[in-house]
Amino acid sequence: MDIREAYLNFFASKGHEIIPSAPLVPNDATLLFTNAGMVPFKSIFTGEVPRPTPPIRTSCQTCIRAGGKHNDLDNVGYTARHHTFFEMLGNFSFGEYFKKDAIAYAWEFVTQVLKLPKDRLYVTVHESDDEAFALWEQHIAKERIYRFGDHDNFWQMGDTGPCGPCSEIFYDQGGEHFNTPEDYMGGDGDRFLEIWNLVFMQYERSSDGKLTPLPKPSIDTGMGLERVTAIMEGKFSNYDSSLFMPLINEVA
Ligand code: GLY
Repeated sequence: MDIREAYLNFFASKGHEIIPSAPLVPNDATLLFTNAGMVPFKSIFTGEVPRPTPPIRTSCQTCIRAGGKHNDLDNVGYTARHHTFFEMLGNFSFGEYFKKDAIAYAWEFVTQVLKLPKDRLYVTVHESDDEAFALWEQHIAKERIYRFGDHDNFWQMGDTGPCGPCSEIFYDQGGEHFNTPEDYMGGDGDRFLEIWNLVFMQYERSSDGKLTPLPKPSIDTGMGLERVTAIMEGKFSNYDSSLFMPLINEVA
């Protein structure tokens, strides 16, 4: 399966416009590199530029996380899932759909298109987000829904900008393959692999830390292409997947 194409076509079938990846160096004084799929759409979330028609989009954005708020550099070489350059698949709603549809779409894609087994899936919500918890309960047993605090379940692109509570989907790669003390839900190990983050964009954070509600509650999601590819190919490291091995073999 071509995962990029499957993702973009799935969201196109739900009315999203497919947008090409924006440059890695954004036109944004607060960021050195594009660090998430939502970066090119920041000014739409904040209402600085008008909502496009249709107000829902999907993309596969190249990202770099090698500094700033989202810095994966120190994890490279220590985990099977971190690298500084990656591709993020995302779907975005600028004041159109919100939590209910974002959750339903993600579940449909993961279980019906990727066909990942439900008994391997877990989700997390912000500890205060009873609404997201109740929406997830329509799809998955409540024992598989975890509540975490701001550190894990509140997302923002940088020190300032659009942000909000988030909900993440995890895939259990199995205790037979990963059994360090960090291999539990919420731990730093590779067993429970975060594959998709659904951000419920509700606020804009200003430089004094203040949160101001966005003009319209919106959706920003990010699914890691390299992590999902490794899972789909039965590999336990992103680097063993077909996204990396041809490059590694060529260099070798
Ligand atoms: N914008 C969502 C994420 O990067 O996780």
